[in-house]
Amino acid sequence: MEANKKNRITEILGIKYPIVQGAMSWVTNAELVAAVSNAGGLGMLGPHAGQKTSPTSFQEITDRLRKEIRKVKSLTDKPFAVPVVISNDLTDIDTIANLLIEEDVKVILVNGIENFDFEPLVKKFKDHNIKTIYRALNPSVENALYAERIGVDILVATGFDEGGTVPDKIIGTFSIVPMISDAVHIPVMAAGGIADIRAVRAAMALGAEGIFAGTVFIATEENPAAENVKQLIVDHTASDLLIFRTNPAYYRSIPTPYSHELLAMDERGDTRDQIASKMYGEQGLKAGMLDGDINKGYITVGNGISYIKNIRPVKELIEDLMYDFN
Ligand SMILES: Cc1cc2nc3c(=O)[nH]c(=O)nc-3n(C[C@H](O)[C@H](O)[C@H](O)COP(=O)(O)O)c2cc1C
Repeated sequence: MEANKKNRITEILGIKYPIVQGAMSWVTNAELVAAVSNAGGLGMLGPHAGQKTSPTSFQEITDRLRKEIRKVKSLTDKPFAVPVVISNDLTDIDTIANLLIEEDVKVILVNGIENFDFEPLVKKFKDHNIKTIYRALNPSVENALYAERIGVDILVATGFDEGGTVPDKIIGTFSIVPMISDAVHIPVMAAGGIADIRAVRAAMALGAEGIFAGTVFIATEENPAAENVKQLIVDHTASDLLIFRTNPAYYRSIPTPYSHELLAMDERGDTRDQIASKMYGEQGLKAGMLDGDINKGYITVGNGISYIKNIRPVKELIEDLMYDFN
């Protein structure tokens, strides 16, 4: 096999292996991101990266983000990524964009949200020679063509198998990846349920040129998630997961007393707004995943947990998933 296999993703991002560790609220930090980038992938800070407490102001959010970016830079000289959308409130997006440009972040994730035109932002990033990865919350051929038209460098096709906020249409990774790959000329990465080399190979066979993964990076030594959460990921399979309605669509969680409460709300007919207001209002993700408090939180993961058998160092995981790219 040829050494250092390159493809469009590795060329665009300036990395060795076509694998990106996706943003994850509360469960990323500078150490994880640097470990991914040092291992040849692309690490990505998520919302609240490296934090243990909720911010009390927007100023605090930006101060913390700047500090965490600088920490990544002290741990690696390799490229890494940061999302420009770090809350549902898009009024401050220009401030975040300017911060990322000032801090010389090389790759930016654009979370494709409907009814917001990202074209001026993407153009601004391009003018600063920053690469953009566009991941629509609800992937479709229409928004893939839109992303291509506004000049993003890489698209992510996310299937319903993913952890965190899932797309509104119940289209699995196996179905969405070829659909989006066929529609555009720019390279596509596959996301949702990818946690072992078979899934990597399948994604590539379906037209993806890279892997965009979250859950599999939670069960790593460098991830800031609570140790009991990592073990729960190892101990469960996709068939154990609870799934319930919320905003914007659905959520799945490893069974915890708290996630059973959310499921019960769904089963008794509470509205999506009611369920969302409990889980987001009570900071269920932070409580469950970062603090490891299963009575106060949920543990959202993708369907790939069936294939996660141990908690490993990031480097070992990446070398395993990217075996074919050596
Ligand atoms: C715990 C958790 C939190 C997440 N939070 C975010 C987030 O804040 N922003 C975002 O763009 N994606 C978020 N995601 C989605 C990931 O970036 C990625 O798309 C997804 O994890 C891929 O699916 P997988 O988990 O099956 O690998 C989150 C995923 C998980 C598991």
